[in-house]
Amino acid sequence: MARVNVELKARDPDPEATAARCRALGAEEHGLLAQRDTYFAAVHGRLKLRDQGPDGSQLIAYRRADATETRESRYVLAHTGEPDALREALDAALGTVVEVVKRRRLFLWKNVRIHLDEVEGLGSFLEFEALVGPGLNEPAEAEAKVARLRSELAVADEALIATGYADLLLDGPQALLRAAQAAMRNAHAPYSDFKVGAAVRGASGAIYAAANVENVAYPQSQCAEASALGTMVAAGETAITAVAVVAERLEVCPPCGGCRQRLAEFGRADTPVHLGRPGQVPHTTTLGELLPLGFGREALEP
Ligand code: THU
Repeated sequence: MARVNVELKARDPDPEATAARCRALGAEEHGLLAQRDTYFAAVHGRLKLRDQGPDGSQLIAYRRADATETRESRYVLAHTGEPDALREALDAALGTVVEVVKRRRLFLWKNVRIHLDEVEGLGSFLEFEALVGPGLNEPAEAEAKVARLRSELAVADEALIATGYADLLLDGPQALLRAAQAAMRNAHAPYSDFKVGAAVRGASGAIYAAANVENVAYPQSQCAEASALGTMVAAGETAITAVAVVAERLEVCPPCGGCRQRLAEFGRADTPVHLGRPGQVPHTTTLGELLPLGFGREALEP
């Protein structure tokens, strides 16, 4: 059964002060949790195993938009008493993307979980998770409570985080470049011998990567960007938040004119486009820079 949370995440420069504010608000402290989250290469959305020992471990499949505002997360959760065996099985079948190890101080305030997280390699963070559902919070109530906590705990705009810990550890551009490169290796380019891989991040946070597919009837060939967008649309997404393009024989492969138009259909002028290779600093531009004076939907408005 899918469940819904309303969430907000931010860096927290002073967790002690935050803990004191939580107590002053009347939040109950529920102790310290040691969590090891293993993220697997999921086909849709994200899949993580939260290892808290044999008594409290969970497998969680979820989708969440990358945004600094309060956001909704939809998830399906299954309890497991065998986290080690499950991690081994999922790693063997799907592959591990990243591991996030953290110590979480948990507070509860009016059906909102407040997490004070110390994440290995990243630092300290504050997270609000308002549970939505019967006997918990109505959606509007959840939003209102998160907004109240944000103001009571003085969370600054600059501190807000749009992505999750896994993305911060993976570093957005590098994760996209890696996905693009992996797809590029499977390109079908026997005529040009020019293999290209493209990856787009959907608004859910999921990555869709694909390669160019050529044809003996040359005009029937398809660019990598078009293939990646098709994969994203088939998965039910309609917006991209970032793009990466990798080519085998070119350090920086700018998308062709047609693909700039295709990408613009699903992105915004400020959507970043990373060109290069994984492990190197990419040449990062935007859809707006790649397609100035582009033909957009406003042209069709009456
Ligand atoms: N190609 C892409 O996949 N994306 C681009 O943006 C530029 C070109 C492919 C198309 C063709 O299969 C090969 O590269 C040579 O043009």
